[in-house]
Amino acid sequence: MSFIGKRHGLAETPPVAAVAANALALQRLKETRSMPARQLPATRAAQGAIRIENVSVEFKRNGATSIAVKDINIEIAAGEFTALLGPSGCGKSTLLNVIGGMVRPTRGETCIDGMAVREPSATCGVVFQQHSLFPWMTALDNVAFGPRMLGHEAPLAVAREFLAMVGLEKFARAYPAQLSGGMQQRVGIARALAIRPPVLLMDEPFGALDAQTRSIMQEELLKIWSELKTTVVFVTHDVDEAIFLSDRIFVMGNAPGCIKDDIRVGLDRPRTPEVVQSPGYGSLHRRVNRLIREESMKVFNGTVN
Ligand SMILES: Nc1ncnc2c1ncn2[C@@H]1O[C@H](COP(=O)(O)OP(=O)(O)OP(=O)(O)O)[C@@H](O)[C@H]1O
Ligand SMILES: [Mg+2]
Repeated sequence: MSFIGKRHGLAETPPVAAVAANALALQRLKETRSMPARQLPATRAAQGAIRIENVSVEFKRNGATSIAVKDINIEIAAGEFTALLGPSGCGKSTLLNVIGGMVRPTRGETCIDGMAVREPSATCGVVFQQHSLFPWMTALDNVAFGPRMLGHEAPLAVAREFLAMVGLEKFARAYPAQLSGGMQQRVGIARALAIRPPVLLMDEPFGALDAQTRSIMQEELLKIWSELKTTVVFVTHDVDEAIFLSDRIFVMGNAPGCIKDDIRVGLDRPRTPEVVQSPGYGSLHRRVNRLIREESMKVFNGTVN
C-alpha cells in the first residue's frame, strides 16, 4: 500500500502519524512480498471490483459507542471511477478505510475481486488527506519505494515511468520540501500507482490546493485513470469535483453514516472543464446539491451531531 496526502508548506515535514502510516505500509509491503506469486497484484482491466456487504463500523469513545457507518451495501465494478460525497462526519473516510483494510468493520464484509479485505495490502494504493511522502527521500526514491518493497527487479525504472506519467520526470532528484503542494500530490499519486494496485483510494487529495491547481490536477487524474483503468474511490465534499470526475456518486447521509443515493453520472468522456455547459449537468448538480444540503442542514440545525 502506498500513502500520500494533503499539501504542506514548502519547509514543512509530514506529521508523525502520516510517517507512521508509511512505516505500516513498509511492513505490509514486506509481508505482501512474501506472499505466493498468484496473490501479488497485477492490474488488468478486469481487476478491482469492490463489494461492500452489510458493513457497519462502531467506535468506542469515552466508554460510549458511536456508529460511524451503518448497513452499507455497495458494488463497484472493476475500473469504475466513484465518489463518496457527503457532509463532514458522515463516515466517508471510515468507509474508505474499510475498503483499504485500515479499519475493520464491526459487522459485514468487504471483498475486492472476491477476496475478503482483512488488513491493508498492495491491492489498494491510498492517497491520504495528509501529506506523507518520506521527507528524506527524493521524489524518485519515494515513488520507487513500493516497487522496491515488492521486489521489483527495476524499481527506479518503474518510478521514472510513473513520475513521467504525472509530468515530474525533471524533478526526480528533488526532495518533497523542494516541491509545491500540487507537485507533492503528483508525486504521491505516482507513488500510490507505482505498485499497480487494482484499486486507488483517495481521501480529499486536492482539498488543500488552490482552485486552479485543483482543476488541473482533476484533469490530470482523469488522464491517468483513462490510461490505467484502475478502480478509483474518491472522497470529496465538493459537488462539482464529484460530478467532474466520477461515473457514479454515492451520496452519504449522516448519523449514522449511510448511502443516501447512488447517482450515475452519464456525462461524456473525456471530460474538460467545459462539461459544466453540457446538457444534463445543471439538473444533475441541483439534484446532488439538494441531497447534500439536506444532510448539512440536519447537522446545522442540531437534528444530528
Ligand atoms: N478512530 C475513531 N474513533 C472514534 N470515532 C471516530 C474515529 N474515526 C472516526 N470517528 C467518528 O466517526 C464518524 C465518521 O468520521 P469520518 O472521519 O469517517 O467522517 P468523514 O465523512 O470522513 O468526515 P470529514 O469530511 O470531516 O473528513 C465521526 O463522527 C467521527 O467522529
Ligand atoms: Mg474524512
